[in-house]
Amino acid sequence: MRKNIVAGNWKMNNDLPQSETLIADLKKQKQISKAKVMVAPTFTNLWHAFEALRQFDIEVIAQNMHFAENGAYTGEISASMLKSVGVNTVILGHSERREYFNESDELLAKKVDSALANDMSVIFCFGEELADRKSGNQESIVESQIKNALFHLDALAFNNIVMAYEPVWAIGTGETASPEQAQDMHAFIRKTLANKYGSDVADSVSILYGGSVKPNNAQEIFSKPDVDGGLIGGASLKAEDFFAIVNAF
Ligand code: G3P
Repeated sequence: MRKNIVAGNWKMNNDLPQSETLIADLKKQKQISKAKVMVAPTFTNLWHAFEALRQFDIEVIAQNMHFAENGAYTGEISASMLKSVGVNTVILGHSERREYFNESDELLAKKVDSALANDMSVIFCFGEELADRKSGNQESIVESQIKNALFHLDALAFNNIVMAYEPVWAIGTGETASPEQAQDMHAFIRKTLANKYGSDVADSVSILYGGSVKPNNAQEIFSKPDVDGGLIGGASLKAEDFFAIVNAF
């Protein structure tokens, strides 16, 4: 169901003591907000974060998972293992995993299937490279990422899918997409969903923007009609900045 969401992707940051400090700060900052709040710690911090935040209406989510249920996959984590530590939502398709771990659309489709088969929700990430944007190919790139990984699903599956548009050239660079660029792409994404599944489904899906969202630009980005919130990297590592973004709604 479409709702405003602000999710903090901690990426590979915070050992356990640092995670405990950030979580204590998040608890101090938490107030009634118009957005659903999520944080994605590293695997080693998930259980303690879940335990610490379960009474604070901050959902703890995972940054990745493997598609297999279990077995000889050294170093990997399955959906059922995430569920066992209270995690019911997982980020998939992040550009850093596509780049550094060669995660293809086909592999991501298998991960999405496994997450949904385990009654999890998915925040599915996609976005174009700078070269694609400069050559005006951003829409065709995004369309193929979405179609290749998601369009085998039936319409009902989208009750458990959140879309996250993250232009790669804006991630960690301080080079944020303009609110107009974000709105244009989000509207295209919603139209792409509508063409396949109809406008009722398309209008019920949350579409988040990610890529250098900060306290000073969040409100203008979130004010756009097809932007339903953000996936926040660097700014999620400071509770004050993160909640300044949460409260931008
Ligand atoms: O998943 C969100 C992340 O990729 C955005 O990072 O640091 O640009 O907010 P950042």
